[in-house]
Amino acid sequence: MLNLAVFASGRGSNYEAIQQEIDKGNINGKVVCVVSDHASPGVFDKAKSRDIPTHSINRKQFKSGDDYVEKLLNTLANYQTDFIILAGYLKLIPAPLVNTYKHKMINIHPALLPNFGGKGFYGMNVHRAVVESGINVTGVTIHYVDEHYDNGNVILQKEVKVEPSDTPEIVAGKVLKLEHKYFPEVVRLLCNNKIKIINNKVVIENE
Ligand code: GRF
Repeated sequence: MLNLAVFASGRGSNYEAIQQEIDKGNINGKVVCVVSDHASPGVFDKAKSRDIPTHSINRKQFKSGDDYVEKLLNTLANYQTDFIILAGYLKLIPAPLVNTYKHKMINIHPALLPNFGGKGFYGMNVHRAVVESGINVTGVTIHYVDEHYDNGNVILQKEVKVEPSDTPEIVAGKVLKLEHKYFPEVVRLLCNNKIKIINNKVVIENE
């Protein structure tokens, strides 16, 4: 059983989707804690309803960047964290965490990277930019985390059509459906050790 730490800033619907698959016994892992940069995000209520510990950890609470990083690393170590799952986490991950959890930290992005990603591309900003661009396909990207926003090795991408009449809200709804389907699936594969890095490329092994 692998130990998963979820990092999230918002309402936590992706956390919930993962947790539901864990509850059904479909994932060989358990969420050991939920960490947020916010004081009391919606995701904390979802975690607390399952008695999962929550931690609000923000750079502003600490005198130095080193203290902040130490707090994050100690918290993760206390739970013997195997994997970090970024599920709508809006802060850049400090380099020491990226190094400690190299290829053990994944993120979900609500577009087809490398398009519509990077600093400032989060939440509805992404879907507004997609609609404004006139592009007819968007989707979801699940990828490993490195020290840049939305930049690490891609694990999985799934597409969905954008119709000419789609508003950003409609696109967000379509993409969210994909997120809830495929993020738990990637977490499942991760916990089954089916995702490998070979020659700096992601390989998903057959089951
Ligand atoms: C999702 O669209 C995710 O892709 C993005 O932030 C959103 C989080 O939604 N990174 P939720 O908090 O999981 O509902």
